[in-house]
Formats: sequence, C-alpha cells, structure tokens
Amino acid sequence: MSVSVRAQLLLFLLSLSSIVARSRFIEEDDGTDGLYSLLSMDQKRQSEDFIFRRPLRCLDMLATDGYFKFVASQPQLACAAFVIVEPDEVISLELYDVSIDCTAGDFIKIFDGWVLKGEKFPSRQDHPLPLHQRYTDYCSSEGAGATSRSSQNVAMVFFRIHSPDSGFTLAVKKLHNPFPCNIMSQSPEGSFTMVISHERRNCSFSIIYPVEIRLLELSLGQAKSNDISLQRKVWSDCSGSGDYVELLGGNGVDTSQMFPVADLCFSLSGLAQMKIGCDNSVVRLVSSGNYVNRVSFQYRLLEPHELPKSRENSLDNFCTVE
Ligand SMILES: *[C@@H]1O[C@H](CO)[C@@H](O)[C@H](O)[C@H]1NC(C)=O
Repeated sequence: MSVSVRAQLLLFLLSLSSIVARSRFIEEDDGTDGLYSLLSMDQKRQSEDFIFRRPLRCLDMLATDGYFKFVASQPQLACAAFVIVEPDEVISLELYDVSIDCTAGDFIKIFDGWVLKGEKFPSRQDHPLPLHQRYTDYCSSEGAGATSRSSQNVAMVFFRIHSPDSGFTLAVKKLHNPFPCNIMSQSPEGSFTMVISHERRNCSFSIIYPVEIRLLELSLGQAKSNDISLQRKVWSDCSGSGDYVELLGGNGVDTSQMFPVADLCFSLSGLAQMKIGCDNSVVRLVSSGNYVNRVSFQYRLLEPHELPKSRENSLDNFCTVE
C-alpha cells in the first residue's frame, strides 16, 4: 500500500463516523449534535420507513445501510467506493437508476473484497470463489450485473463515467453472517474470536494498522497443551502441523504476500503477545478440516514510539518490534 493510498484510507476509516454523522444532518436537518443524534438516528433506522440517503463521492467509504447516489459533474475516470461492515456481516450491493454509456467506455464493477494498490483481500488462496467470479460487471451482464453479495465484511465498487449528469444509485444492505471467515477490521482496537469447525479452509483477520496482538485463547484440535516440549515451538515454524495460527505482517492487503511474524501450533490459554509494526497485521487460522479450531485475540494500535525505526524491506522480520 503506498503511503498516500494508506493515508487516505486511514483518514477515511477514522473519519467514517463523522462522515456518517455529517450526512445524517443533511438527511435530518434537525441541527442536533453529538450522541443524541446518533441514538435518534438508530431509532429512526429501526423503523422500516426510514431510508438513509446521501450522495456518493468519486472516492468514498461506506459503512452503513442506505442509498448512495452518484452523479458525475465532470468526466470521472477512476472512482472507487469501499464498503466495510461489521465482522459478522456481509454486504448486499444493488445498482438502481443506472444511466451510463457502456459503449463509450463507462463502467461499474462490483468486487467481492477490496483491491488496494493491485493487491486483493481476501487473497486468491483464501477466497471461496475464483478471481473472475468475484467481479460483477454491470456492462457485460446488464440485469444480472446490477446486484452482488459479498463473501465477507468488505466489498467495493469501481466506476468510470465520462458524461456529466450520468450516474447511478448504489443500495447497500448489511446481512448477518453466522460464519465469518475473512475479515477486515474497521478499527485499530478490538477483539475477535475466529472459529473454523471441521472445515478445510483458512481464515484471515486483517487490521490495516500497526498493532499489538494479544492472543487470549487458542485451541487447536490436535494440540496437547500440557506437553512442555511444545513450548519451544512457540514462535517457530508450524508447517508440519495441519492446523495452526500465523501472525503476518506486511505493507499490502494480500495475505499471501505477507511476512510470517510468528506461528503458533499448540493450544494455549493465557498470554502470548506480539507487536507488528507494519501497515497491515493479520491473524490467519489454517485449518485441515479435521478439528474445531478457535483463536481469540485482542489488538491495539501501536504508539508512535513503539514503531520500528527503519523499514528495510529486505529484512524478513522488518516489521517485528522487539
Ligand atoms: C491453507 O493454507 C495452507 C498454508 O498456507 C495451505 O497449504 C492449504 O492448502 C490452505 N488450504 C486451503 C483449503 O486453501
């Protein structure tokens, strides 16, 4: 992730709540400030006839249900809307009132995941669908191309529109996901429990901030937690074991391109913690399908003084913080 893209993204994530709050004022225009308006907003959202609407920007971040209308004021050739919802939700996206000219090179494409600087989340290896099936192209399949449902809590829409006054409306709807697997965290602080139950798959929890990750509980079907000799394996290679947890660090969003910071292949309850001074920190659970595997962890943003001083890409452990 380039510094500018990431800076922009972080800015977006940080200002997410204020953007949402500000556009609520446009919608409600009642001039109420602070917590009260958030509460009343939620109450209104619960009543079925309230529909949240606001304009969509060429570069935008959406985190709420609603209708987002884009109208080009000039040719807009490289636009993207990033959508992120809670870890246990997936996203339904629907296009309405589309007026674009596909024959003139306009397009609207929905992607099941995020693409940042050419890297994809979830990675090709971890996503249930082949890459080409993760794109929904409005122009190549009108009708069918107007709706899409994500496999995880992030999705995005790319669009290019040449003529002024052309545009579309994007409807965002959150849906509950009882078995979240790949997740992008909305914030640099939090906790999560990832479970894979008798499934041969790998799940990643990605935090696009430098963080300290504290494992609270790890239970892998195969492991014998009372075997003292396993203690030595704590931060070494677990590739011989079919079920393990990897902590990864890197500066992009594709987990298959990231550096292993630590592997854990024994059960533990109690503290194991690691600082990862990279732009992206990931907890990845690798599961053979033979067991029920579970990992619980907490994370917090690293303070500026905790960050590594130099970031030499040539060093394998360049984002490990001592
Ligand atoms: C899960 O990850 C491991 C190690 O990266 C890999 O060997 C395995 O094939 C992956 N499993 C699936 C179902 O993709």
